[in-house]
Amino acid sequence: MTTEINLTRDPAHLRHGSNIGQPLTRREGVLKVTGGARYAADNHPPKMLHAVMAVSSIARGRVTSLDIAAAKRHPGVVEVMTHANRPPLADDPDAKTNPFMFRMELLQNDKVRYANQPIAVVIAETLEAATEGAALLSPRYEAEPARTGLDGNESFVPPAVGIGHPAEVRHGDVEGALAKAAKRIEATYETPAQYHNAMEPHAIVAAWDGDALSIDTPSQGLVMAQGRIAGLFGIAPGKIHIRSPYLGGGFGSKGLISGPQILGILAARLVGRPVKLVLRREHMYGPVGHRPPSRQRLRIGTASDGALAAIDHHAKITTSSFDDFYEPAADASHTLYASPAISTSHEAVRIDSGTPLFMRAPGEATGSIALESAIDEMAQACGVDPLAFRVKNYAEVEPITGKPFSSKALRECYVQGAERFGWWNRPLAPRQMRDDNGFLVGWGMGTATFPALMFAAEARAAIRRDGSGVMETGAHDMGQGAWTAFAQIAADALALDLEQVEFKAGTSDLPDAGIAGGSAHTATAGSAIHNAGAAVIAKLAELATSDRQSPLFGAGNAGVVARDGRLHRRDDESRHESYADILTRAGVAEIEARGNGAADPAAQSNYAMHAHGAAFAEVKVDPDLGQIRVTRMVGAFAAGRIVNPRLVQSQILGGMIWGVSFALHEQAIIDHRSGRTMNANLGEYHVPVNADVPQMEAIMVSEHDPHVNVLGIKGVGEIGITGSAGAVANAVWHATGVRVRRFPIRIDDLVMPVSA
Ligand code: MOS
Repeated sequence: MTTEINLTRDPAHLRHGSNIGQPLTRREGVLKVTGGARYAADNHPPKMLHAVMAVSSIARGRVTSLDIAAAKRHPGVVEVMTHANRPPLADDPDAKTNPFMFRMELLQNDKVRYANQPIAVVIAETLEAATEGAALLSPRYEAEPARTGLDGNESFVPPAVGIGHPAEVRHGDVEGALAKAAKRIEATYETPAQYHNAMEPHAIVAAWDGDALSIDTPSQGLVMAQGRIAGLFGIAPGKIHIRSPYLGGGFGSKGLISGPQILGILAARLVGRPVKLVLRREHMYGPVGHRPPSRQRLRIGTASDGALAAIDHHAKITTSSFDDFYEPAADASHTLYASPAISTSHEAVRIDSGTPLFMRAPGEATGSIALESAIDEMAQACGVDPLAFRVKNYAEVEPITGKPFSSKALRECYVQGAERFGWWNRPLAPRQMRDDNGFLVGWGMGTATFPALMFAAEARAAIRRDGSGVMETGAHDMGQGAWTAFAQIAADALALDLEQVEFKAGTSDLPDAGIAGGSAHTATAGSAIHNAGAAVIAKLAELATSDRQSPLFGAGNAGVVARDGRLHRRDDESRHESYADILTRAGVAEIEARGNGAADPAAQSNYAMHAHGAAFAEVKVDPDLGQIRVTRMVGAFAAGRIVNPRLVQSQILGGMIWGVSFALHEQAIIDHRSGRTMNANLGEYHVPVNADVPQMEAIMVSEHDPHVNVLGIKGVGEIGITGSAGAVANAVWHATGVRVRRFPIRIDDLVMPVSA
């Protein structure tokens, strides 16, 4: 049959504004605030034991002894798992067969590759006994000097950055253009290592039943996790049942199943009882990924008319001694600004740390704080307002590929953001504005961008004889509100009210919803849901239009539209029939269909697809003490169709707060003698608290993108950080006249000149 029913190709037939577009609150919100939501670690199957990891206090070397006898003597301790007795695995944890696979420390030997690496697991009747048992192991080591920091080892050009992007990209004659430039700047910026610090630490409750495995654990990618576990244990993926209904944040660290989660499964295997393993906060600073530190050199040149002539962005980043993740920091310079010559390059250093990993806006966040600072410095060198400079120089087509953007409302973001912020009469020179209390006031801005990615997802839709609908996909809700947004898309896809649709998600036995990452979950799984709904309605229409007793008989596929639980003839809206009547007469209990969400290769080869935005910040700085306060922020973002404005706003604000954090707060501080993180806790690893968060506003600029996917959805999970961090840094410069190029900016960096 044809697909002219076609909720697929013509979204105009969807009731956008009935479910999609509504600012609904999170469907699971009440459960969460009343404690009714059961997170992974809340599950206590009968006979469950507690496992606690012992971790290395050295960063390189080997473990020479563990006092296993002492640990085992402790009452309540059941077993100590080390490399000597760890159950066998079918796959080498150091094997790597695809770029989404990372090496793990699963007690394969006595080697230590980084501080906080798991070296043993103590399993006990109580958490207290396991904790005490782990402390009694008193490890001894043969330590080698730790290689730390960006200069801790020889550097090399990585084989690729991010997911398979070239480490070096050259477009046009950068050196020639820089040599001829009317104005040019060169500056080097440093960003620190950052840790995901999700509120909920990685946790797992694992129970074996023969070779079947039941798991409660937070995951941003259930089917990938299932596949990885299946490979490691040599069992069929179908034997593994993972439940992940709630996540207390992920930010990329739960995108792939981590080593400690696998250790929980191994521990359960070893003792033959269910085991719960929860990471302690300090355990999260090592085996579950981080954003690596960077040193980025930007060289920018302009022609005599103030147009950009060249951008050269070079990033040095770290990776671990044993695996490959390369933060694509310089790639931030690929798409935003219209320079005829652009080069980006990466250089990496292997150090004794855990392997870095995707962390909210990997590459874009790290690179954009440097790029936006440099653009600001360039505007200043040209004597031009930084907004005017950006408006003049932003890219109308993607500069390196030459592709047009599938849609782009960046100019409108600049205009609406500046208007709302009140970006007028901003003095060009720094240190010109004071408030009534004598604090220095500064205004800064930055451009935001994030690619509109699509991965692959599947959904199953059904309509039941009572007229209600079902939509199933194993989607992940990290707190961002995905389940609410997906339920809204599902209701529109089935042309039903939200209450009439049973939306099922969060377990591995549902259709693969892909990964909740890359800001692509809503677009990808949302498209699958939309297409599954269209497919099941097409089946329903087939039933009705071929049934002589139906008022829709003979309408043909082209002639039917779904609305409010009924199919209507398009040429005569008075002729319609309810889903329930169609199915009842056909004697069918339920009809079902599946739908997929995936990138459209044709659209992708023709268009560059990105979300865009502009962030504006005001800071106040105490001229005597150097204390910095962000007092106001406004962001204007264009991200295609907004499925749920309340949740999108919340995502964007969360990103903007991370921008504040990037500029002023976050930093993992490494002890270069030991290779240990000195502030591996939420007391000393600073993230913004309420008092640090200013008055904030996120405006969503309306954007219709007909190419990005069937629903026109771009992601909002990550873009909020980009632009915002640079805006805060630039505001600090504007307030003080001090250009700090090492982040986070600290009071002592501002060594304030005597106030004027
Ligand atoms: Mo994100 S870093 O793609 O969870």
